[in-house]
Amino acid sequence: MKPKVYVTRLLPKEAMDRIGLFCEVELWDDELPPPREVLLEKVREVEGLLCLLTDRIDAELLSKAPKLRVISNYAVGFDNIDVPEASRRGILVTNTPNVLTETTADFAFALMMATARRLVEGDRQVREGKWKTWGPLILRGQDIHGATLGIIGLGRIGTAVAVRAKGFGMKLLYFDPRRQTSTEAELGIEHVSFDRLLAESDYITIHVNLTPATHHLIGPIELSKMKKTAILVNTARGPIVDNMALYHALRNGEIAFAALDVTEPEPIPQNHPLLTLSNVIVTPHIASASVMTRTRMGLMAADNLISGLKGEMPPNPINPEVMGNR
Ligand code: DGY
Repeated sequence: MKPKVYVTRLLPKEAMDRIGLFCEVELWDDELPPPREVLLEKVREVEGLLCLLTDRIDAELLSKAPKLRVISNYAVGFDNIDVPEASRRGILVTNTPNVLTETTADFAFALMMATARRLVEGDRQVREGKWKTWGPLILRGQDIHGATLGIIGLGRIGTAVAVRAKGFGMKLLYFDPRRQTSTEAELGIEHVSFDRLLAESDYITIHVNLTPATHHLIGPIELSKMKKTAILVNTARGPIVDNMALYHALRNGEIAFAALDVTEPEPIPQNHPLLTLSNVIVTPHIASASVMTRTRMGLMAADNLISGLKGEMPPNPINPEVMGNR
């Protein structure tokens, strides 16, 4: 008998095939996430759950899943899951680290360059028939080379962004409670206080997890400490930035531009004031969305699910201690 699993969205084919070999799969085959009541119903009978960052896996849901043994999250971030509660119930939780690092760093850099050089505004002007001539004052942006990049969180993705920035001749600063001395030496990146990073960076890019400590890490006070020419990039999690404070800072010229791949909430409501501004780019949480990376994430999530169900230590456990307690 194959173990029953619920998969909350269609994954790349290679991943679906791999899961199907070992599991009896029920799939929520829709573009939008399963409604809460569907998810609550579906977890009743399954031993495995392959979910996305759009699925809230909280204590209520876990209390309705008596047979659940493995939760495989198709994401590196896992703020959608109540991990302590899962651990308390002996449920393994896994994620998909590493495979998306470079792709996400590419995208953070792309957002930085797009805002610096006003790419989206330029494209819009051309399409709207506003390109009349070449002009010395038209759509002047900011240089990347020679500018200072402040990285908040020098983990895997933050480091991969630093590697790209070094290649572009940027000066590198970072803030992270954990010093990365070997990376400092290797990339010539300087560890600074949070305030110094805010004050000295031309570009600030966020690469921390969403936790209670990082919720609204960037709010009105932090924005007021940035340069008036600063560009803020967020590819981590929306709630790390207070988006209303960001709106006021952008509108009042406290900072110059922002690029957000993540918002609070997601999707950002169509009538959100941020969307009235021309000095912000918003993309729909696609930093890891390359064909190759989304396939690798799927295969990794499949392997995590299957090995957990086999009673083996999965390749990417978040709460490995659960195995020992079983
Ligand atoms: C993640 O994995 O946490 C990203 O936000 C989506 O790839």
